[in-house]
Amino acid sequence: MPKIDVVAVSAERAQLPVLVVPWLEGEPVPDVLRNLDAAVGGALARALEKRDARGSKDEVFLLYGPGGAGGAGAAGPERLLLCGLGKRADLSLERLRRAAGAGVSRARALRATQVGIWLPVSWVAAAGGTLDLANTAQALVEGAVLGAWRFDELKTVFEDDERTPEVERVTLCAHPGTDLAALRAAADTGRILAECQNLARNWVNRPANLVTPRVLADEAQEIARRHGLEATILDRAGIEREGLGALAAVARGSEEEPRFIVLECAGGKGAPLALVGKGVTFDSGGLSLKPADNMETMKYDMAGAAAALAALDAIARLSLPANVVAVVPATENLPSGRATRPGDVVRSYAGKTIEILNTDAEGRLIVADALAYAAAKYKPAAMVDAATLTGACIVALGHQAIGLLGNDEGVLAELERAGARSGERVWRLPLWEEYREQLRSQVADIKNTGGRPAGVITGAWFLREFVGDVAWAHLDIAGTAWAETEGPYQPKGATGVGVRLLTEWVRGRA
Ligand code: BES
Ligand code: MN
Ligand code: ZN
Repeated sequence: MPKIDVVAVSAERAQLPVLVVPWLEGEPVPDVLRNLDAAVGGALARALEKRDARGSKDEVFLLYGPGGAGGAGAAGPERLLLCGLGKRADLSLERLRRAAGAGVSRARALRATQVGIWLPVSWVAAAGGTLDLANTAQALVEGAVLGAWRFDELKTVFEDDERTPEVERVTLCAHPGTDLAALRAAADTGRILAECQNLARNWVNRPANLVTPRVLADEAQEIARRHGLEATILDRAGIEREGLGALAAVARGSEEEPRFIVLECAGGKGAPLALVGKGVTFDSGGLSLKPADNMETMKYDMAGAAAALAALDAIARLSLPANVVAVVPATENLPSGRATRPGDVVRSYAGKTIEILNTDAEGRLIVADALAYAAAKYKPAAMVDAATLTGACIVALGHQAIGLLGNDEGVLAELERAGARSGERVWRLPLWEEYREQLRSQVADIKNTGGRPAGVITGAWFLREFVGDVAWAHLDIAGTAWAETEGPYQPKGATGVGVRLLTEWVRGRA
C-alpha cells in the first residue's frame, strides 16, 4: 500500500508523473491554479470552456502537464487528472473520497507509481459546514489508498496491461503556507483507516478454502501480537464446553473446525464497547441447501467478522482512548450426516432454546451467542454487530445502505452520525413489538425464521432476544459488503464495509 507524504508546494511545481486535481463543476480556474494553467498554455481553462472537462461527479479528465515537456527538462507535473467533485452545493467528504479514489485508480492504470493530490484549500474553506482542511485531507487519503488497491494475489497469468504496478507513494500537495502538522495527522488517520479496510477486503475476497475459521483466528492472533492485545480463541471443544450451543449447532456439519475469537483492546477507562462480527466463512445453507447459482459468493458471509477485526486493528493503530472488545464467531455452514436438521432444538449460550427451522438462517444463531457472551462476560457500555444477515436487506435497501436496527436511541443516533462522516451510510428500520410475533415457536423459546415479511427486522428481533438490557445496534451489511458494480474507489468484489463506520463510532464515543 502506498506511503503518504504531505508537502507544501504549488501545483505547477509539483514534480510528479501524475497530479490529481479535484474539480468543482462549473467553476473557473481558481487563482491558486493560474500558474499551472499558464504553464500548460491555458489548456486547463480551454478544457473547461469547451466543456470537455466539466468537473461533474466521478468524472476523470486527463491532460498533459508542463513536467517533462521538450525532452526531460521542464518542471512540474507530467500529467493532470481533473477529478470531478460535482456541484459546490453538494461538496462532501464522500465526494472528495470518490474524486481521489477515481484519480489514483486511473493513475495506477496509467502505471504511475508516484501520485500527487492537490488539496483544494480555497474550495473547502468556502464550503464551510462540517468540511475542514483536516477531514478533507483524511477523506482524500482514504480515497487514494482505497483506489490504489487491487486484488490480484491469486492470479499467476496476466493478460496485457492487466497487472499494474502498485502505487508506491501518494503526495498530498497543500498550497504553500498551509499548516502541515494538522494535515499530516489527518492524512495518517485516513491512511490507517483505508489500510485496515483493504485488509478486510483481502480477507473477504479470499475464497473459503483459503479463509477458514482457523485462518481468521490466526489473523486475529497476529493483530493481538502486533499490539499486545489479549486474545481468547476457543476451538470446537471449547465452544461446546463454554455452552455456545447455537454456534456449535451451525458448526456441526463441517469437518473444518469452528473458532470463537475474542480480542480485547484496552485503550481507555470504564466498561468496554463490543464489536461483534458474523464469521461464516462459507454459507451453503446447510441441510436447507441454497441453490447452486451464485452460491460461490457466500464466501463473503464472513464480511462482518472482517469488519470487526479490521476495525479493532484500526482502533489499536490509532491508539483511540477506548476499551473495545471484538467478538467473532467463525464457522462454515455445510450439510453432512452430522449437520443440524431442520426442526432441531438447541440450547443457546443465553439459556434460551431455539427451534432451528431453516439451517440457512445460521447467521443469527452464531451472532446471538456472540452477543450474549459479550453481554455476560464484559458488561459492555454498548455493542454493535455487523453481519451479512439477510437477503431481505438487499431487497429493502439494495447496495447503497447498511440496514440499522437496535434497542437504544442513543447508539442508533451515534451510528447515523458515524455513517455520515465515514461515508458508510446506514438506514434505520423499525423494531416494533408486533414483529416479534413472527418468531414464536410451538416447541421452543424462539424459532430462527420469521417467514418472508420484514426479513431484516425479524432477523434483528432474533438478535435482540439475546442482548439482555445492553444498549445494542445491528448492522445488516448483506447488500453493502460485496460490490456487483465498480465504484470510483471500489473494484467489483469485497468492499470492506464497516471498518470505517465502526472505527468512527468508537472514535466518537472515546
Ligand atoms: N448469508 C445469508 C444472507 C445473505 C444472502 C447475505 C445473500 C448476502 C447475500 C444468510 O445466512 C441467509 O441465508 N439468510 C436467509 C434467512 C432466511 C432463511 C430466514 C435469507 O436471507 O434468505
Ligand atoms: Mn444462510
Ligand atoms: Zn449466512
